[in-house]
Amino acid sequence: MKGSFPHFMKKEIFEQPESIKQTMRGRILNGSEVHLTGVREHMSDIRKSTRLIFVASGTSYNACMASRQILEELSEIPVIVELAGDFMDRLCPIFRSDVVAFVSQSGETADTLDALKYARKHGAMCMGIVNVVGSSISRLTDFGVHLNAGSEIGVASTKVYTSQIVVMVMIALELSADSKNKSARRIAILQGLRELSANIEKTILLVDEHVQRIADQLADDRSILCFGRGYHYATCVEAALKIKEVAYIHTEGINAGELKHGPIALVDENLPIVVFSSMDLTAVKVQSAIHQLLARGVRQRLIVVCSESDTQMLELVASREGVDVIKVAHTVDCLQSVLSIIPMQLLSYYLAVARKLNVDCPRNLAKSVTVH
Ligand code: M6R
Repeated sequence: MKGSFPHFMKKEIFEQPESIKQTMRGRILNGSEVHLTGVREHMSDIRKSTRLIFVASGTSYNACMASRQILEELSEIPVIVELAGDFMDRLCPIFRSDVVAFVSQSGETADTLDALKYARKHGAMCMGIVNVVGSSISRLTDFGVHLNAGSEIGVASTKVYTSQIVVMVMIALELSADSKNKSARRIAILQGLRELSANIEKTILLVDEHVQRIADQLADDRSILCFGRGYHYATCVEAALKIKEVAYIHTEGINAGELKHGPIALVDENLPIVVFSSMDLTAVKVQSAIHQLLARGVRQRLIVVCSESDTQMLELVASREGVDVIKVAHTVDCLQSVLSIIPMQLLSYYLAVARKLNVDCPRNLAKSVTVH
């Protein structure tokens, strides 16, 4: 039921403080230890694997991209992220020494299911990260984790995306539980997880009205570019997918490092551009991308999404009149993408409303893609 919300999509965006809690419920013991029952039983096999391969489609693929860096950092195992359709087009070589994770909201996506059957045939250990209990992917995998985000009705995936990232971060924590030299890092991430629900709530309050005003300004635009790198590469791609899907505006998510390799040719003072800032090793590089964009006159159409603690970025844009800054709550680097996607989920929603579109059932799309 939509309750007081006009659409399921808005309800599901606003449900995220609670859906995140449900995803973590019973899985963080004494606030300091992750316990994912299904994964723990297979921990020694996972640690022995030579590759962790994550296979998914659409938003679920973007969640894998958002989690890859922390999975690699904490597990020290090479992590490969594959689009399910492309994985099968290439008949990607799979070995018994691989652990392959299949990530899906519905657990029924045809491309992802095909990839699962193929990986099983090649003897890999298969893990499911699925929202729908009893779904095909959930049943056919050797073990796994349910997302417990609650049912998602809107065709655009929102609350499941953030729960997927949280589960993959918890898997990374499980994989590094015995590593003494990672303990400070693990403590910081666990603290971030404990505060995440409150930070999502804070972010929604901070951005909701602001984003609605931005949507009214962008509603007649034909094209938008989104730039991010590091953890925020996935955020910009997911933001673009949401805007395309529900607002039918051509939007591209581009790695900010690629700006000078082609996309900068598109940039002029009329093109709306969204840049995601991070407070990690990529910060200086993203600042440099902003300088390049400002030099090409995008000032009046530039939107920067950053943490409210990102003083460097806030100082950079403070003197640039016309630049719109969306501030979100601050958290540890590997969870920041959970907060930074929220204004973009809302932006796509308000753009669709402003354009009088069918928000919950966009044209030509189905919630579960069970055909090829
Ligand atoms: O159910 P799945 O997570 O496997 O679905 C994969 C995609 O079809 C899905 O994420 C799609 O991209 C969403 N509608 C995007 O919002």
